[in-house]
Amino acid sequence: LLIDPARHFIPVAEVKRFIDVMALHKFNRLQMHLTDDTGWRVEIKKYPELTRIGSRMDWTQMQLESPSSAQARHSGFYSQQDIRELVRYAARRHIIIVPEIEMPGHIGAALASYPELSLNPQKLSALPPEQRWKAHEWILAPRPQSIAFMSAVLIEIMDLFPGPWIHIGGDEANCRAWTHSEELQTQMRELGLKNEAELHSWFIRQMDGFLTQHGRRMIGWDEILQGGLASGAIVMSWRGMEGGIAAAQAGHDVIMTPASHTYFDYYQGPVASEPKAWGTVLPWEKVLEFEPIPDDLRAAQARHVLGGQGQLWGELISTTRHREYMAWPRSAALAEVLWSPQTENRLESFRARLIEHLKRFDTAKINYRPLSADTQ
Ligand code: ACM
Repeated sequence: LLIDPARHFIPVAEVKRFIDVMALHKFNRLQMHLTDDTGWRVEIKKYPELTRIGSRMDWTQMQLESPSSAQARHSGFYSQQDIRELVRYAARRHIIIVPEIEMPGHIGAALASYPELSLNPQKLSALPPEQRWKAHEWILAPRPQSIAFMSAVLIEIMDLFPGPWIHIGGDEANCRAWTHSEELQTQMRELGLKNEAELHSWFIRQMDGFLTQHGRRMIGWDEILQGGLASGAIVMSWRGMEGGIAAAQAGHDVIMTPASHTYFDYYQGPVASEPKAWGTVLPWEKVLEFEPIPDDLRAAQARHVLGGQGQLWGELISTTRHREYMAWPRSAALAEVLWSPQTENRLESFRARLIEHLKRFDTAKINYRPLSADTQ
């Protein structure tokens, strides 16, 4: 499963509780989306401004969507000691934490903290930090100094997270902004790159090479396929299954995370009667229809599908109760899909077991969306 403390910080005790409930369902990987435009949530000793400035953004998507919910400023970050504690806590429950440090897009908190990473450092550093949040181009300038900066960040991240995988995001990058930069157009010409997609791919390959040198595997969202995929990279296929299928056919490992079946920030019932969410309606019954290894893949290619993952993006989720409501029972249905073979009567069989399972949630005081919500 993925949790998103970048959008709304999740205190250590609540992450531990989430890990406990994951372990009950045999989930074994927790992706933590630690950085984004809305906040930088992990202490980096070499670059203290990342958390001094970057963890204190005075804006969230929730505030944008619903100004009335604009309570106190959302802030917070994990110290390195907090991270080590979480990694140990998860490991004792057979869960490996996969950190996600977003680049080159979704990086606004870092740009506000260190304007030299941005396309227009002078413009940004002339502003007081609280005014930099919306004044940047929503993308890193992939000059050599920025690559050195992000590499130094990843050195500390690798020290904190001993697992084999480091996620670098790579999605939804505003590469168009690079088009208007004379500096980057020159860099592209010097590197023999034809367009911004190739520059994105070049940048991702630099980070992949760096992580590979250090014995880790890079994971990125399926946008890292465009412009040529770095050789050892693992693809997370979120814009449908197509990216994952193409990557597996090309011999790359993939993790299936299609929004259609695994985005648990989407509605799970009628829009009018549910807490505000994104997207279309994705009830647990539809999660049960998820097929992580599509028929299009031959046996040799199917081996490249490492698994699947459910996403709890946090723009609209600011409390543990709400996170649990969005996670369960959909994540239980996902565990069923990922750990058991497809059967004729999966829906009926799972529903019967789910009714019993929800009693465990009641006893453990874990929040969830009741089955009866549809008939009320
Ligand atoms: C994503 O939802 N942008 C990976």
